[in-house]
Amino acid sequence: MGNIITNIEQLVGRTPLFEFENYEKKHDVKAKLLGKLEYFNPSGSVKDRAALNMIKAAERDGILHPGDTIVENTSGNTGIGLAAFSASRGYKLTVFLEPGQSEERQKILRAYGAELKSMLDVPGVPEALANGTFTTQFYQDAIQAYCDAQPTHHFFINQLINEANPRAHYETTGPEIWEDTDGKVDILVATSGTAGTITGLAKFFRERNKDIKIVAVQADVTSRPGGSENPQTIDGTAPFGDPGFPDGLKAPFIVGFDYDECIDVKGEDAYALGREITKTDGVFLGQSAAAALYAATLVAARPENEGKNIVAILADNGMKYLSTNMYPLDKKVQ
Ligand SMILES: Cc1ncc(COP(=O)(O)O)c(C=O)c1O
Repeated sequence: MGNIITNIEQLVGRTPLFEFENYEKKHDVKAKLLGKLEYFNPSGSVKDRAALNMIKAAERDGILHPGDTIVENTSGNTGIGLAAFSASRGYKLTVFLEPGQSEERQKILRAYGAELKSMLDVPGVPEALANGTFTTQFYQDAIQAYCDAQPTHHFFINQLINEANPRAHYETTGPEIWEDTDGKVDILVATSGTAGTITGLAKFFRERNKDIKIVAVQADVTSRPGGSENPQTIDGTAPFGDPGFPDGLKAPFIVGFDYDECIDVKGEDAYALGREITKTDGVFLGQSAAAALYAATLVAARPENEGKNIVAILADNGMKYLSTNMYPLDKKVQ
């Protein structure tokens, strides 16, 4: 029979590269604004690539076995990807969520059968946060200790240091973009959570084009999830390039990572672009995707970038942000 998919894993990757032509015309953009639409992945985000690759690598390395529980700390999308592939491969999954995750993400994780916990449920974390000794390393050690204390085998998959995370982008996302542009990418723009996406892509592109510009995007200090009262935060992103930001609080892949520029984006600017692009081009973006595309528009507006190909990685779509005020409903029809 024709073309029938029997496993959601067959749907990971090969996402479209989309040119925002209507937006370009409206604003007389002189560069090409290209977005890698990662919400076409089967559980709806870029993190499907890393989730699947990490599970496969752990199976290959003999450290994940049938009946095991996978454990992860996640801002949501990695958990959702792991939940989908754990379901299809028969694993149990426990996720520790960072604060401020949207309600939809939590409901989706539950629907796939994952067990949800707060990072504050990890023994020792509330105390470390209260007394200022919390570091990324501390958090990873605390989750590992939690896993070791369980009566059955709990495997901490740890996207923060798992090399299969950036490798997923080196081996799939990068080659797809290369193929779709015939290798003609001048500037790559991406947000970062674990930095798996941006470090894997930077390695791929720098090996092929020494002139490529790698632009990292982070939420402006007022728009960061967790530590901000701002109702317009940018979910799924972590601080990237703040001078003086201690290495101990950064995602390990970022430390020592060579990027050309880091752009701070305010939540309100990302949301406004998300709302506009839905109307100009019919593409419904999530918060970090809108932030990445907003940064790409800033880069595109520079005279030196006229005629260049700018690729922004658009991590997910707007569906998981409907409980936030990114896409408000001014009047509910009864
Ligand atoms: C919405 C969203 N955008 C961007 C990212 C960043 O991806 P990475 O972890 O590869 O840096 C994530 C990761 O969790 C995410 O959930």
